[in-house]
Amino acid sequence: MVSGLFVSFEGIDRAGKTTQAGLLADALGDLAVRVREPGGTPVGERIRALLKDPSTDLGDRAEALLFATARAEVVDRVIAPALADGRVVVCDRFLDSSLAYQGAGRGLGVEAVGAVGRFATAGLEPDLTFLLALPPNAAAGRSGVSDRFEDEGVALQRRVLEAYERLAAAEPARWRRVDAERTAEVVHAEVMSIVEEAIASASAKAPA
Ligand code: TMP
Repeated sequence: MVSGLFVSFEGIDRAGKTTQAGLLADALGDLAVRVREPGGTPVGERIRALLKDPSTDLGDRAEALLFATARAEVVDRVIAPALADGRVVVCDRFLDSSLAYQGAGRGLGVEAVGAVGRFATAGLEPDLTFLLALPPNAAAGRSGVSDRFEDEGVALQRRVLEAYERLAAAEPARWRRVDAERTAEVVHAEVMSIVEEAIASASAKAPA
């Protein structure tokens, strides 16, 4: 494969993104570069710890800018070089998370957060984005350690999911909506077949 492929997973908290990103990266082996957001770089991981910590007291715009800062780092230092190297980047969240959580969830506006986000990413977008669709009530019943975002309750998750649905509907060529209420294995099989098709079509388009 000559050209890289950028795949992201999106969804509310506990929708199964981390599990699916892991299963996909494992299935792709050396071809894959796995990244999580926020994180993926030394500075990004420190920003992640700050943003998830329930004791962090932070204004909404500052929160959005910290996500953007972590994202700029991971784009420049990890994602862009991996794509240039022809790898498949498997990203656990990307800019769409900021559009959904900060833009819609916090009410900062999808347009405003998108403008900051495009500066941070230098315009880089995923080729393929999976929306792991799970009702907030079902997500709340799944086990895990809650963070600053989940501590805010189901209303935030509901606004976030609605925003994701609007983003997916507006850009159907990039988004694939996947029913995440099924088992991880069944979801992974669907994800895998879509990614294999995308890899084949990216390879077919790449210059010989
Ligand atoms: P997670 O990686 O465990 O899902 O945790 C990241 C948390 O940060 C999650 O609650 C979603 C939130 N988040 C945002 O609010 N905006 C963003 O841009 C990203 C990447 C995550």
